[in-house]
Amino acid sequence: MTRVDPTLTSEPNDLGDTAITPSVTPVLVPASRYTSPDFAALEEERLWPHVWQIACTVDHVPEPGDFYEYRCGRLSVIVVRGDDGSLRAFQNVCRHRGNSICQGSGSGLSGLRCPYHHWSWDLDGNLREVPSRKGFGPGLRNEEFGLFRAQVDTWGPLVFVNLDLTAAPLGEFLEGLVDDTTWAHLDEFHAVAATITPVQSNWKVVAEGFSETYHIQGIHSEMLGSVDDVHAPQRLWGLHGASYQHYGVASPRLGRASSDDDVWKSFIVSQGGRMGIDDPATPLPPIPTGQTVRDVIAEQIRVHQAASGVDLSDYSTVRITQLCQYNLFPNLTVLVQADMVAAIVARPGASVDEAEFVLIALYRSAPGAKVPRITDSAVEDSTYLGLVMSQDCTLLRTAQRGLHQPGLEHLAISSEECRIINLHRNLERHLGIVPSELRPIGA
Ligand code: FES
Ligand SMILES: [Fe+2]
Repeated sequence: MTRVDPTLTSEPNDLGDTAITPSVTPVLVPASRYTSPDFAALEEERLWPHVWQIACTVDHVPEPGDFYEYRCGRLSVIVVRGDDGSLRAFQNVCRHRGNSICQGSGSGLSGLRCPYHHWSWDLDGNLREVPSRKGFGPGLRNEEFGLFRAQVDTWGPLVFVNLDLTAAPLGEFLEGLVDDTTWAHLDEFHAVAATITPVQSNWKVVAEGFSETYHIQGIHSEMLGSVDDVHAPQRLWGLHGASYQHYGVASPRLGRASSDDDVWKSFIVSQGGRMGIDDPATPLPPIPTGQTVRDVIAEQIRVHQAASGVDLSDYSTVRITQLCQYNLFPNLTVLVQADMVAAIVARPGASVDEAEFVLIALYRSAPGAKVPRITDSAVEDSTYLGLVMSQDCTLLRTAQRGLHQPGLEHLAISSEECRIINLHRNLERHLGIVPSELRPIGA
């Protein structure tokens, strides 16, 4: 099949979409932002302790006494569900000599106790017990040695924390995202899997890999048969951005020659699990008169979900086959579809060349379904994450190695990659980089 350059044509696709890209000037971004320990240190000082970031899901901490330790580089935060059912978050540090209080996740806590010398607090962070207390003298007052609180709040099933108590609330941070996702009823989704995979790249390489569709024609060619990667409109709020991609249609890059069978096969190869079909040889069911292969795919997804008691009959073909991709500053991508949501998190690693790739899969639950507490799984081998995610992860190592080559001083970012440019603009704002180091290409 001959590929065509879609930039040669600007007509809308069959769904009426044209490639709406916010007017953002293409820029050069310093490569050192991905490789310099000094830049990572600046992020550690000025970004991570002050920004809202996803820690876990409500399904990690569904019951009173459940806790989850969230780590971001050196930062560690305990998210705990209190006896009153409310979520609370604390810096994970003992007020005696600074030991970390909790590790990992668990349940059944009636209080928080430091394992070192057994100082303990209630689930509201109030100090309640100090062994051999006399030795600390009469000046040790419980009210002055509570745990350090962090802000905690939720967006649907996603739990966010912010160590900065002066930061604006989460609702304000989320800008237009709550309104933009009302149709999806995010509260109905629950996490069914959460994996953490160590990767050999800077966290921004990970985040940026999920902030544009430009690379689909590069590393996900199997998807081209079933996604319009060209006409996907994008939008930017202040901090965050979005892209709305139609699936179940062929990419304009393939020309007009794609058959319905090609679209069907490509959809199975790249995301057949959503239809409960994984064999690409599965024949395309007959397409009812007046419908398209896209309608058939949407119906298969409805049928597959119905088998688990989830009713998607109120969701149109467009809602079911369109992917709404939200890029939240600084390191979270949320993929919203009618049947599933995925949260992709890029956490900084132990060095500027390392990160953690966190993938949380959420599905809509049947009404009244019992949802078990979820725990993270460590996944060393990204092939486990499926074809597309595995392709994304494989690329991270080569991308990071390339960024270290002395000839590369800047990355060239196009206006189509506007969500990456927005990330760097906001990064500069948070890190206090003035004047901007982002130079228009050709200036
Ligand atoms: S460091 Fe925590 S009780 Fe001593
Ligand atoms: Fe990708």
